[in-house]
Amino acid sequence: MPSETIASLRARLRGAAQAGGVNPRDVDVLLADVSARSPAWLFAHGEEQIDPAALEGLVARRMRGEPLQYIRGHAEFLGRRFFVDDRVLIPRPETELLVEAAIARAPRGARVLDIGSGSGCIAISLERERPDLDVSSIDISFAALAVASRNAREHESRARFFASDLFDAIRGEFDLIVSNPPYIPLDDYINLAAEVRDHEPRDALTPGPRGTEVIERILLAKRAPVVMLEIGFGQLDDVRHVANGYEIIEVINDLAGIERVVVLSRHGHK
Ligand SMILES: C[S@@+](CC[C@H](N)C(=O)[O-])C[C@H]1O[C@@H](n2cnc3c(N)ncnc32)[C@H](O)[C@@H]1O
Repeated sequence: MPSETIASLRARLRGAAQAGGVNPRDVDVLLADVSARSPAWLFAHGEEQIDPAALEGLVARRMRGEPLQYIRGHAEFLGRRFFVDDRVLIPRPETELLVEAAIARAPRGARVLDIGSGSGCIAISLERERPDLDVSSIDISFAALAVASRNAREHESRARFFASDLFDAIRGEFDLIVSNPPYIPLDDYINLAAEVRDHEPRDALTPGPRGTEVIERILLAKRAPVVMLEIGFGQLDDVRHVANGYEIIEVINDLAGIERVVVLSRHGHK
């Protein structure tokens, strides 16, 4: 079996990563994963021998543009670890704002519908933090639902997952709808960073030319008195224009100061 010292392998692959436009720290993260050692331990034991093949394979994937979270097979969301692969969007820190707002606002015992399960990060986090809630989650993608169900099992969550094109397979009213829908207009999607555009599922990112197509359908259905949505950069006015029957009662900015979460209340609801 070929072998190399940890220090030499690390220096060699960090150099290659940097030359290829990849953050050299990603090499340290992947080295820690393959060796099941902490970065500090690896730094202190640079003279020990290691088989380079596994790390070389992972770094090559990273240098081809694959997101670090898919290579590692997990992403952190609100302090929990979620399994991810290229069937689902990688959970984003901005979406934590949406869940925090829902945790704070959902009435006790509320029936909550999460639209667009992806990895299940919203529905599972919500149910785990607020076990009083009755949380259902839907996705049009069977592939995404397989990932969400796996995460629900791993987190022993009672959140339920269903296949549905928005409300097509869903009956009844909910007390609260939460959603991080696909919201990127098609023209912006085409110009996204290749790491996102070429690796994450297209249907998770763009719903069509306007960017508001899924939001429009959610609001038109009027299945809940309160709807909480993650929205895109500069999209607040577009959402206001399609908020037919709802009014925007709160806007929450993300850490970059971008209007990121909107809370809508159905006309006549107190
Ligand atoms: C932006 S991702 C959000 C995933 C996850 N909730 C998160 O925040 O990381 C949007 C999700 O909506 C799903 N989706 C897109 N169109 C849909 C539709 N018409 N009905 C149901 N789900 C849809 C996609 O498959 C994708 O999983």
